[in-house]
Amino acid sequence: MYNIAVIPGDGTGPEVINEGLKVLKALSGKARFTYQTVTYDFGGERYKKTGEILPDSALQEFRQADAIYLGAIGHPDVQPGILEKGILLKIRFELDQYINLRPVKLYPHVDTPLKDKGPQDIDFTVIRENTEGLYVGSGGFLKKGTADEIAIQESINTRKGVERCVRYAYELCRKRAKHNKLTLCGKTNVLTYAHDLWQRVFDEVGREYPGIATNYANVDAICMWMVKNPEWFDVIVTDNMFGDIITDLGAMIQGGMGIAAGGNINPQGTSMFEPIGGSAPKYTGMNVVNPLAAISACQMMLETLGEAEAAQLLERAMVTVIAKMKSLSAGKMGYTTSQVGDLIVAAIEES
Ligand code: IPM
Ligand code: MN
Repeated sequence: MYNIAVIPGDGTGPEVINEGLKVLKALSGKARFTYQTVTYDFGGERYKKTGEILPDSALQEFRQADAIYLGAIGHPDVQPGILEKGILLKIRFELDQYINLRPVKLYPHVDTPLKDKGPQDIDFTVIRENTEGLYVGSGGFLKKGTADEIAIQESINTRKGVERCVRYAYELCRKRAKHNKLTLCGKTNVLTYAHDLWQRVFDEVGREYPGIATNYANVDAICMWMVKNPEWFDVIVTDNMFGDIITDLGAMIQGGMGIAAGGNINPQGTSMFEPIGGSAPKYTGMNVVNPLAAISACQMMLETLGEAEAAQLLERAMVTVIAKMKSLSAGKMGYTTSQVGDLIVAAIEES
């Protein structure tokens, strides 16, 4: 029996999570697993009403859960950073979800903006370090608001943090057994301290994985190659900030935010799964956004929980349904949000 903490969150989060939960229910019948959910209303609305962002008691409950299923965090009436740092980043950090796993996979029949590229060319995974770097919030102001103002934002990279991330990437690359190729994405030509550490750790750990071919590219070049030759990539490992940026580019080449999902993984603890598209305030309540990213996040959750059969059933259902959709973009799918969820459920039931 799995205990799943559900945080629908802001904007379109609740709509897409609703579809994900429909799908989860259908799968539990088909693949015979049991689960219970506890829903938490953290997000902009609760913050506006009560001033509460995320109490420690909730974090304690999340630690006891088998997984967390998150919709979206971010509210137009709340100053940027408060909810993102107070909920999303806080969970990632406090639960030590040190891997952000973001597959970039183009499914058949999905439009990519890349000319002449298809599903055989776009299938790689980005491993983004998820608890360090520029995200730790280290820094401060001096003489704020004056002409002499100084703003400092530090990137923290620890030997331990880099090593566990790099090691995870090598292991995943081996497990994928696709091209057995791991690329380090950094900026060693400018960030001569932080990415020197990354490069040394990458090379050292690599000696333990003779079957994995390694290579290095600067983050700016990675952006170029992701557009020009995405087929070169198998697994990319990178720091928190660069991982944030290149996975938005990754999302676009795999068909957009409507399909892109990510896992915040603590291999020894509780992991959290989310669509990476955000709260999309302008579409809220309209039943037009694509729930497939949330459904794909559900698939990653099942895979991580060890429900391989359910995960496979779901991926096949997604491929079937995508083939029927006009587009993966909000409002252009040829179906509503809930109809897409229903189609997935039907495809699971028919399989
Ligand atoms: C993401 C998001 C978050 C991040 C924001 C909302 C804090 O962009 O998950 O990629 O920067 O990590
Ligand atoms: Mn991002």
